[in-house]
Amino acid sequence: MRLAIVSTGHTKFGKLSKDIGNLMLDVCNQALSKANADISAVDAIYISNFSSSFTGQCHLPAVLASKLGVDKEITRVESACASGGVALKEAAISILSGLYKTVLVIGVEKMCDTPIDQVTQILASAASQEEIKHGATFPSLYALMAQRHFYEFGTTEEHLAKIAVKNHKNALNNPLAQFHKEFTVEDVLNSRVVASPLKLLDCSPVSDGAAAVLMTTEECACKFTDSPVYLIGIGHDTGTIDLKSRETISTMPAVKRASAKAFAMCDLMPQDIDVAEVHDCFTIAELIEIEDLGFCDKGMGKGMIEEGRTSIDGDIPINPSGGLKAKGHPIGATGVSQVVEIATQLRGEAGIRQVHDAEYGLCCNIGGTGATAVVSIFSR
Ligand code: COA
Repeated sequence: MRLAIVSTGHTKFGKLSKDIGNLMLDVCNQALSKANADISAVDAIYISNFSSSFTGQCHLPAVLASKLGVDKEITRVESACASGGVALKEAAISILSGLYKTVLVIGVEKMCDTPIDQVTQILASAASQEEIKHGATFPSLYALMAQRHFYEFGTTEEHLAKIAVKNHKNALNNPLAQFHKEFTVEDVLNSRVVASPLKLLDCSPVSDGAAAVLMTTEECACKFTDSPVYLIGIGHDTGTIDLKSRETISTMPAVKRASAKAFAMCDLMPQDIDVAEVHDCFTIAELIEIEDLGFCDKGMGKGMIEEGRTSIDGDIPINPSGGLKAKGHPIGATGVSQVVEIATQLRGEAGIRQVHDAEYGLCCNIGGTGATAVVSIFSR
């Protein structure tokens, strides 16, 4: 499979004044203008969005059609925090089927106008209600996963803190990131406990934002750009929503299955990847994913962090954008934003956060506690 990503759009992440319709319009216009195209070049649009409970606005396809002032085939895709990855996959299938040639994938969420207790409740609608009714929240479910990882593999709070330090450092070089502040391991360890062992600086924040990618066939790519990036593998899998029915909670089986499919599709191995954006909604998630993606053996993620192998100048830089931790996590936008970063890296356009000579890049986008996973692989 070779589909071409020919252009991208991305708003700043954080608390934004624009409404959800105008956020979608902004990234749509950015992606089109960078490709010297207008909306008539686009056959269909896929919108990744998690919950209308944040804004009260359902039916985003019609909101976007009104903003664009055109009639179009527009579809909304929802799969919790993995909505962006699933939207990318649906868009890829639509082109590969021959139905469309050129498709825009937009991710958007507007969370910051909602009080934090309601945000927590809305996010929890993506977890098992059996677990939520006993008082669980996403931070507490990930805290359980962290405790288990600590118990099985000897991982510590310091290892997780180093992930937060790295991602906040990377975000200093990303002008679109929500946070531009450097922290030390001590700052992370001394930040307020959210759900032990996870502290404020182990958590991704509440964010507004949007991102877009314009995707087309390999043959049509030259109409839009001289430097396309190719989607060469994509794997998607869904497992149980609750933690209690998993054999172990120190791993994400859906990530393993999705990554096996993605690597098989392009005939590459984890060692071939030069840069990756992985879903660090909590620091423990980045650690579990780098293991489950096969960048190291299970339980050895802590060694990769200690040795600096995941820093921007390491052998497998993880989250050069700052990741969800520091770039921000507007749920529906996240999976698309990861693709924007990898496309930017593979085109050599990432400025001072550029990973040297990156040829192959990977995105890992998960939903819930890893129940849904989409792994996508790109080449320059
Ligand atoms: N990382 C770093 N700084 C953060 C932060 C985070 N995750 N969240 C908030 N802050 C900062 C704020 O900018 C603010 O800084 P300031 O005082 O310098 O302005 C300060 O911490 C207090 O912010 P506040 O908005 O009062 O925090 P909060 O208690 O309302 O929210 C969390 C903190 C951790 C509860 C919230 O960010 C959260 O719920 N995160 C997880 C989101 C989530 O579950 N996503 C889905 C994943 S599956």
